[in-house]
Amino acid sequence: MSLTESALHQGLERVLINEDELGRRIRELGDDVGAAYSDSRPLLIGVLTGAFIFMGDLSRRMGIPLDVDFMAVSSYGQSTESSGVVRIVKDLDRSIEGRDVIIVEDIIDSGLTLQYLIDTLQRRNPASIRVVALLKKDKPDAIDVPVDWVGFEIPDEFVVGYGLDKAGQYRNLPFIAVARVP
Ligand code: IMP
Ligand code: MG
Repeated sequence: MSLTESALHQGLERVLINEDELGRRIRELGDDVGAAYSDSRPLLIGVLTGAFIFMGDLSRRMGIPLDVDFMAVSSYGQSTESSGVVRIVKDLDRSIEGRDVIIVEDIIDSGLTLQYLIDTLQRRNPASIRVVALLKKDKPDAIDVPVDWVGFEIPDEFVVGYGLDKAGQYRNLPFIAVARVP
């Protein structure tokens, strides 16, 4: 392992989902989601920043005409625990009225962010809203929000990589890892 690699890997507990497993599952998701929109041109809404890599890989696999936009919401700050407050940090560039919208999320933890996003977007009168999330934590007390496609159900641990961060770090890891608890 090179010096730069070992610096990037510092603070990781273990690999949870490796690059091959990620690639395989995202190809399946891309095929499934793409097939569900064979007669419309959906608008993919990526939730920044965590979904940026997933959005790129998923959208390239979908194989149909589509549009992309991004939204940023904040609920965590620097902490690994949810503050319970969600707010829009960056809004969409265009109207979603009459559009078939697909929310692309990196991970669903408490479900609070997703619930807020669905409520907010629903008020803008899209034709439909569906949700694809790469990861969903196995959390019995999470809010029950409808998710149409989930990549992987994972244990309730703090994970990083493939877009997900811990205080801004690890987003460019090509796999998903459990971060070491200090
Ligand atoms: P929720 O509102 O509790 O469902 O949290 C959703 C957001 O919190 C995700 O979109 C992530 O940005 C962040 N988050 C939740 N769990 C993790 C994690 O294990 N690692 C990194 N980010 C996380
Ligand atoms: Mg997120």
